[in-house]
Amino acid sequence: MQLDQCTALVTGASSGLGRALAHALGEAGAHVAVGYRSAREAAETTCASIHSAGRRAVPVRLDQTDPASIDAAVAETASTLGRIDILVNCAAWSTDVPFADLAAMTLELWDRIHQTNLRGPFLLARACAPHLKAHGQGRIINVSGGSAFTPSGSSIAQAAAKAALVHLTRCLAVAMAPEVTVNCVAPGLMAGTGMASRVSPGGFEAARQRTALKCTTSIRDVAEQVLAFCRADSVTGQTLVLDGGHVFH
Ligand SMILES: NC(=O)c1ccc[n+]([C@@H]2O[C@H](COP(=O)([O-])OP(=O)(O)OC[C@H]3O[C@@H](n4cnc5c(N)ncnc54)[C@H](OP(=O)(O)O)[C@@H]3O)[C@@H](O)[C@H]2O)c1
Repeated sequence: MQLDQCTALVTGASSGLGRALAHALGEAGAHVAVGYRSAREAAETTCASIHSAGRRAVPVRLDQTDPASIDAAVAETASTLGRIDILVNCAAWSTDVPFADLAAMTLELWDRIHQTNLRGPFLLARACAPHLKAHGQGRIINVSGGSAFTPSGSSIAQAAAKAALVHLTRCLAVAMAPEVTVNCVAPGLMAGTGMASRVSPGGFEAARQRTALKCTTSIRDVAEQVLAFCRADSVTGQTLVLDGGHVFH
């Protein structure tokens, strides 16, 4: 698929990886709806960087724990930008709960994490489906994480949601074929993101040492892979792990 003049909805694009993906899509020629939940000014900053690449960009408010907000954001994107060719499910919410502290993983936390990080991407895919299929070629890219494959990360609920997102990718790939491809990236720890801001310098170094390449994940590499999944016409249901070669001890 040619990205020039396509339209993308990128969730969680007010910061971190989502902002970088929105910018990369703009640089590749797409018009972008910049999804944010609370950080309107930050979303406008993302839009400004896309405008400077000569593409349209609009901030779109979205709380993906709320099905009505999802429907409204998708409708606003379609009416403002005219069509939706690409959905990037990047938004997520998590908080640190040690795996061993089972009691601390309350029902409220479990539900918020799963509503945001698993149910939200499904409902967004469902709401976008008619738009993605309308021109015979659509794309969904989900953002999972290394915790989908190893019992690690901020909490058990987050790891389970990210693992389920990998399988949701395969299920949606079957459900939305042949018009829409559905793929997934699973990054490791990335500097300059919300999650990274919660990791101590020692934790960052430990994460680096657990990889074969002794590096954390490059946001640029993730963005390049998202663009590659968007351009590819014969790839669906796949997840690419970008984590420097994680070695689980
Ligand atoms: N950062 C890492 O090292 C890392 C590693 C592996 C995987 N990942 C995954 O990569 C993605 C981006 O991570 P990040 O660290 O770059 O994120 P981040 O900087 O923490 O930003 C999170 C984004 O999600 C939005 N968001 C939160 N709750 C939302 C909700 N209920 N509805 C809609 N949007 C909501 C936030 O919007 P507002 O700020 O506007 O409220 C923000 O734009 C996530 O899926 C994360 O799990 C990240």
